[in-house]
Amino acid sequence: MKYIQSNNCKLEVGSIEKSSFNSILKETYTSSKCVIIVDENTKENCLEYLITSFEPLHGAEVIVLPVGEENKDLEIAVNVWEALTEYGITRYDLIINLGGGLVTDMGGFIASCYKRGCDYINIPTTLLGMVDASLGGKTGLNLGPYKNQIGVFSEPKVVYIDPIFLRTLPDVELRSGFAEMIKHGLIHSEQLFDKVIDAMHSSHKIDETLLVECIRVKNKIVREDPKEDGKRKILNFGHTIGHAIEGYYMRSQGYTHGHCVAVGMIMEAYLSHKLGMLNEQSYLKIQSELSQLFEIPSFTDDEIFAIVKMLSNDKKNKGGAILCCLLEEIGTCKYDCVIEIGEFDQVFSYFRQLNS
Ligand SMILES: NC(=O)c1ccc[n+]([C@@H]2O[C@H](COP(=O)([O-])OP(=O)(O)OC[C@H]3O[C@@H](n4cnc5c(N)ncnc54)[C@H](O)[C@@H]3O)[C@@H](O)[C@H]2O)c1
Repeated sequence: MKYIQSNNCKLEVGSIEKSSFNSILKETYTSSKCVIIVDENTKENCLEYLITSFEPLHGAEVIVLPVGEENKDLEIAVNVWEALTEYGITRYDLIINLGGGLVTDMGGFIASCYKRGCDYINIPTTLLGMVDASLGGKTGLNLGPYKNQIGVFSEPKVVYIDPIFLRTLPDVELRSGFAEMIKHGLIHSEQLFDKVIDAMHSSHKIDETLLVECIRVKNKIVREDPKEDGKRKILNFGHTIGHAIEGYYMRSQGYTHGHCVAVGMIMEAYLSHKLGMLNEQSYLKIQSELSQLFEIPSFTDDEIFAIVKMLSNDKKNKGGAILCCLLEEIGTCKYDCVIEIGEFDQVFSYFRQLNS
């Protein structure tokens, strides 16, 4: 079991049965009611294991969220708050989020706003959740196609990261998680980037040491800058373009979050090179590795127009400027780079030509 301290939150990586979960339920939350938030798939694949393994959860209330990024919205959150009220949940009770980034983002937000905040624990069940979404205290909802426009910073009490939950995760979702691990490599060290790429090629083997290494990269950045006033912004590498693509296709193509971020990373690496920051060799390495693993969509003119327009509403923008993270080399990222909207048009056009 690996124990990692975050700001006001503990991370435990390893078998949840050997973790502090049982004693926390029995000691800290002994007189609290427990509510487990799942989605339709984690209800099917992960809930029974959790409830049968931990006796204090036998009488827990279960709330099921609908699957799909398009459901990460206020209407569903309101339904959950109503259910919590109906179950008589107080601010001294405990919410347990058992799922991927959708469940931990929404569940964290719901818990943080309910009766001005009640305690919650994250148990991520996707690779993406384990290395990224469940950590760092960003919670939130989408507003229409705009990603995570409503949200608060609020940390869970503990995050239990147990790779056992990955046994039922579909391959496409595993790849999505790998995309965020690749991002950790690109912003932290070329050696980590190479290791993640190798792991992805070797039949997606999840090595716990690599998992912990990626968790530590995110945790270190988050500890230095918990509210994203500065350095934490580098975790958004690939996400300015990635979020716009994800938001645009949310109700149609249904690309995974990681796939959109991977395409965003290829394009933002190209932008880094085009603007004279990243050398050609490094850009070509990123482009060649990532495009073998994640297909770049063939954007039409109308799609490019709509996606680029969405960039003007990205939540990282400041004073009318579109801000982006760009790479100086593999392993070094610069944040708050001001990019003209026309540059994004040119990037999309370049990739459309490359694809044709
Ligand atoms: N808060 C943050 O810092 C942060 C960081 C990165 C991403 N995110 C957010 O996370 C979300 C993406 O997270 P995600 O990729 O985990 O998506 P997700 O939660 O939608 O899960 C992906 C799919 O896998 C299914 N699933 C989950 N666990 C499973 C399991 N063990 N077995 C079988 N199926 C399982 C889900 O039901 C879903 O269909 C996005 O909303 C993104 O914005 C947040």
